[in-house]
Amino acid sequence: MSTTTPRFQTIGIVGTGAMGRGIAQIAAQAGSTVLLFDTQPDAVTQARNAVSTQWDKLVEKGRIGADAASAQKARLKPAAALADLAGCDLIVEAIVENLDVKKKLFAELEGIVQPTAVLATNTSSLSVTAIAAALKRPQQFAGFHFFNPVPLMKVVEVIAGLKTDPAVCQALAEYARQMGHTPVQAEDTPGFIVNHAGRGYGTEALRIVSEGVADFATIDRILKDQVGFKLGPFELMDLTALDVSHPVMESIYRQYYDEPRYRPSVITAQRLAGGVVGKKVGDGFYKYEGGAAQIAPVPPVPQVDDLPPVWVSTRAARRAELYQLLKDLGAKIETGQSPSPQALTLVAPLGFDVTTVAVVERLDPARTVGIDMLVDDAATKRRVLATNPATRSDMRDAAHALFARDGKAVSVIRDSGGFVTQRVVATIVNIAADMCQQRVCTPKDLETAVTLGLGYPLGPLAMGDKFGPANVLEVLFNMQTVYGDPRYRPSPWLRRRGAIGLSLMHEES
Ligand code: NAI
Repeated sequence: MSTTTPRFQTIGIVGTGAMGRGIAQIAAQAGSTVLLFDTQPDAVTQARNAVSTQWDKLVEKGRIGADAASAQKARLKPAAALADLAGCDLIVEAIVENLDVKKKLFAELEGIVQPTAVLATNTSSLSVTAIAAALKRPQQFAGFHFFNPVPLMKVVEVIAGLKTDPAVCQALAEYARQMGHTPVQAEDTPGFIVNHAGRGYGTEALRIVSEGVADFATIDRILKDQVGFKLGPFELMDLTALDVSHPVMESIYRQYYDEPRYRPSVITAQRLAGGVVGKKVGDGFYKYEGGAAQIAPVPPVPQVDDLPPVWVSTRAARRAELYQLLKDLGAKIETGQSPSPQALTLVAPLGFDVTTVAVVERLDPARTVGIDMLVDDAATKRRVLATNPATRSDMRDAAHALFARDGKAVSVIRDSGGFVTQRVVATIVNIAADMCQQRVCTPKDLETAVTLGLGYPLGPLAMGDKFGPANVLEVLFNMQTVYGDPRYRPSPWLRRRGAIGLSLMHEES
């Protein structure tokens, strides 16, 4: 338990479902008296029991003392009516996600509490300004957006509506720290920080699948092994469930007036309509048995007894590294101006597809295979190769066998502008850059919110720096050419900082 006086000593929680009870738990742990109200008769009792059980477990594990647990339980009190919340200095709402119902609740609460009390909503998709529109004291109202499960997800977005007093946000941020959470400050924009920054991962992966470039499991493997994501995008969508994540994709896309960067996929719309929503129903992108995903085995490495010589395009990304890698793998490397008629021809484009590169560089497409060199070979657990429609199967197999020679995993995908990692990383970085451009939050808060709220291995700006801002920009420029799709248009923020690094801007406010 905290030894400092909580910034809000008596708080009310309205709506004691999954979120309300989590917020109640950390508020009581911070030393506040917490009054719980819900319209469902048993909901408050269930919430108090659930939170008490959590504390009993913590006592068993020796994480908190029995005295602290009893004191916390005593601070968690039922409220039989909204009017019982009159003495609260903060009320956090976590009821049904419906604008009219929330507006009605806050109008009623405003008539009950003291004028100095702060009212906050845990909404994840509605506008804070819109909820506050009919209030007499909108300056006392803010968004306080937690993530599920609240005690474990240690970040909270503090959202200022158009009329919110900055002191209210400061008070909520201070209180969040007392609850052991990290507050980040977000402008009142669709998706705030975490749900906005999270748009790139799933939507771009879905687009790759929709183009038939690779299957779900291959994309998951590539992104986990090349970038370090804990879960692949399809594993993540299965866990979140499409009845939750598809409406979020649609809502943010629509709220931004059909901005192509956020365009959802017909794949998830159809799966949602068919009830194939994810792990909780045992059927999603993967099928689940006993809670475990059933994953098809990885295709074996082809057996190739006599590997052809290899010629590397003069325009390959990270060409020196690719040469060294080929040497380490024991390849017969050709160093002539052009490949011999027997040579396997390797290209390593950024953003362009293998077919275009083969044609532009006047290479024989039948012998041309691409490799994704955006990723540093020493830092990746998987190499990704791409064929083009003309690639001969013996050349594909030779490339696969060669790059698997040292035991590293290899995935072979079909041709597309950008490889899986290039596309997904560039999209994530570009959306984050655009959020900085729009001043949704500071670059620093963006990185904090994404690492804590989405569990990415790096913040998106640090990710951009890791892969090279100039490389990310090149991927986007070239993909825009390949696809003619404004979705890949680089954000002005990224264009300006492409040459000088993104993390440098962390100090910018
Ligand atoms: P839930 O369905 O688990 O709980 C909602 C509770 O509110 C229920 O107990 C219900 O009886 C009660 N309720 C409904 N209308 C009420 C009213 N007018 N007055 C008092 N109580 C009322 O929902 P959950 O998941 O806890 O979500 C609550 C809010 O938190 C929503 O606004 C949601 O968008 C937001 N949120 C949810 C997240 C999640 O992952 N579940 C994450 C972040 C925010």
